Amino acid sequence: MQQPKRYLVTSALPYANGLKHVGHLAGAYIPADIYVRYLRAQKREVVFVCGSDEHGTAIPIQATKEGTTPRAIIDKYHEAMKQDFEDLGMSFDIYHRTSEPLHHETAQEFFRYLHERGELEIKETEQYFDEAAKTFLADRYIKGTCPNCGSDRAFGDQCESCGRTLSPDELINPVSTLSGQPPVKKKTSHWYLPLGKHENFLRKWILEQHKDDWRPTVVGQCKSWIEGGLQSRAVTRDLDWGIKVPLKEAEGKVLYVWFDAPIGYISATRQWAIENNRDWKPYWYDQDTKLVHFIGKDNIVFHCIIFPLMLKLHGNILPENVPANEFLNLEGDKMSTSRNWKLDMRDYINDFVKQENGGAQCVDMLRYYLTQIAPETKDSEFMWKGFQDAVNSELVSIFGNFVNRSWVLLHKLCGGKVPRLHEDILDENDKNLAEEIRNTKNRVESLLEEYKFREALFEVIDLARKGNQYMQKKEPWIVAKSLAENPEGQKKIDNCMHCCLQLTANLAILINPFLPHTAAKMLYMMKVVDKMLDWENAGKLKLLSVGYSMREPQLLFRKIEDSEISAQIEKLNNGLTKVEEQTQTAPTPAPAEKPVKPEIVFEDFAKIDLKVGTIIAAEKVEKADKLLKLTVDLGFEIRTIVSGIALHYSPEEITGRQVTVVTNLAPRKMRGIESNGMILMAEDKAGKLHFLRPPTDIDPGSNVS
Ligand code: MF3
Ligand code: ZN
Repeated sequence: MQQPKRYLVTSALPYANGLKHVGHLAGAYIPADIYVRYLRAQKREVVFVCGSDEHGTAIPIQATKEGTTPRAIIDKYHEAMKQDFEDLGMSFDIYHRTSEPLHHETAQEFFRYLHERGELEIKETEQYFDEAAKTFLADRYIKGTCPNCGSDRAFGDQCESCGRTLSPDELINPVSTLSGQPPVKKKTSHWYLPLGKHENFLRKWILEQHKDDWRPTVVGQCKSWIEGGLQSRAVTRDLDWGIKVPLKEAEGKVLYVWFDAPIGYISATRQWAIENNRDWKPYWYDQDTKLVHFIGKDNIVFHCIIFPLMLKLHGNILPENVPANEFLNLEGDKMSTSRNWKLDMRDYINDFVKQENGGAQCVDMLRYYLTQIAPETKDSEFMWKGFQDAVNSELVSIFGNFVNRSWVLLHKLCGGKVPRLHEDILDENDKNLAEEIRNTKNRVESLLEEYKFREALFEVIDLARKGNQYMQKKEPWIVAKSLAENPEGQKKIDNCMHCCLQLTANLAILINPFLPHTAAKMLYMMKVVDKMLDWENAGKLKLLSVGYSMREPQLLFRKIEDSEISAQIEKLNNGLTKVEEQTQTAPTPAPAEKPVKPEIVFEDFAKIDLKVGTIIAAEKVEKADKLLKLTVDLGFEIRTIVSGIALHYSPEEITGRQVTVVTNLAPRKMRGIESNGMILMAEDKAGKLHFLRPPTDIDPGSNVS
């Protein structure tokens, strides 16, 4: 494509069912924001859209969890997410929501268009129906036993224990989570998008046309989908939360959330156009628009196969690129909301940005680290220590240090004014530096155009590093000492400081897409206007005029202390321990009206293997104040079991004690230790835990039944 006339950049619409973590931020938001800020600095015409995804079963399920209505849930999380994005510097032109009437209309029009042109198929199938609740059941509303791992807490779409993707038909003994009753099969009709029919188009468009300019991970996923055989996908659901299917014969049906949500990009653009008195149509219909979707890897199939096909059938343009990121892990483990192993954007904002020594610099520090570790080609790892190192030894020691030294010396040796450049004594170092500035600008530019944000950022920091080396070679502070004997030295000082200042101006332009608050602070120190940040100024060497006076230096970044890092790690571990305790050892509180759990048959009970064991060793688990690592003799073998009893018993007092052990529980990792079983405990009214054990010691390995 030639230079596009306009750009439309999208970030995945986050589900309005909870706060989002920094993994999301690194995946679909920060890279898009960098790209857009770069395009704006290039004076290209660009609209950056995002918004909340407010449909799908995730919403009513969260409402049940929080004991409220779906409406209350989306209102709460829409506002919260919007605020978090704003606090972290995301520069959306519009942050819309899919519950808006404009979106409902847009999505319905889209469906109707495809339907009227015969692009959708109608199929009748049998689906699970809850007779008590009189409703068809979405996959998430059906629970049962996992055919893969035997867990009895598997859902109709996925087993949370082993992670396997399921269909409701695979569940053993399915029950409805609404009524607790087994569901029945009932006939229902739905509208399908026939992917298979368009295989040729998809193959050609992705596997031929875009095989080189899309990321290999993205092309790879598409390839395996296409090769795996493209099935028709239902675009409607029997559900009452969502956008009504706009057909008389579709009473009680809504559009599938993955049909309506990406259309949210279009309705957001429409809303933006209304608010800015512009025309939205060229953005979705004109071939000279470049559409780019930023997403996480779990969204690839929807943005590369399904939505593009919808767009094509609807007569719209297709995305030019879909730079999807892999996942970001945290301290060696997958981020997870249910295990509370995550760093929410909101937590970072509260713990850093909103603190007394926080503010905009802390926003940029996070943006820096998340870009430096961006999972562009493979999963990557957020480590608190890594965050500290990135801030202290790169932002503070390289970038911040260069700017600060330049400013301090400028005030000390040149009266705070831009000194002139004495062309007659320019040396190799000066010339090389000028060359580096131009080269870096070109490299950063092409890396950004190729969506290689971490490399681009590295180039900027590297240029600051070269600035430090340059200054080190020139040593203007040494020259200054012998000015009395050698007054010509002032010329050398002038040249050095002049070049350092022009480099600083360049650094501000180059860092601006990544760290906008830092660039703004640098502008302030240079006393220049925003216009200087125009990308066309990058690579130039006369950005600051001779004689112009600069402000006093300000520190661009602060150091991250060890104590801040250990506090975060402790917080993370405590959160995890809390969840582990709830699921492992704390007895499930029985509901008030019924003191016992639902009836089970003998066979259910007989599945649990209980044996007497002897604790032969016990020790505290590092960084988890509630866990003990127990070594238990079961007669036929020795096991490691992690138990949440450290607040009740010391390792010494329980060594040698007999206990009752569930021996056939699936292994679970806690704090990196694999636990193979569970110790039975009884909780008294005061919350104290007691071991269940034979009154006198018997052989370890004895059966309990
Ligand atoms: N809500 C989805 C998720 O969080 C993303 C939707 S992107 C859109 O995974 F294109 F559908 F909007
Ligand atoms: Zn399973």
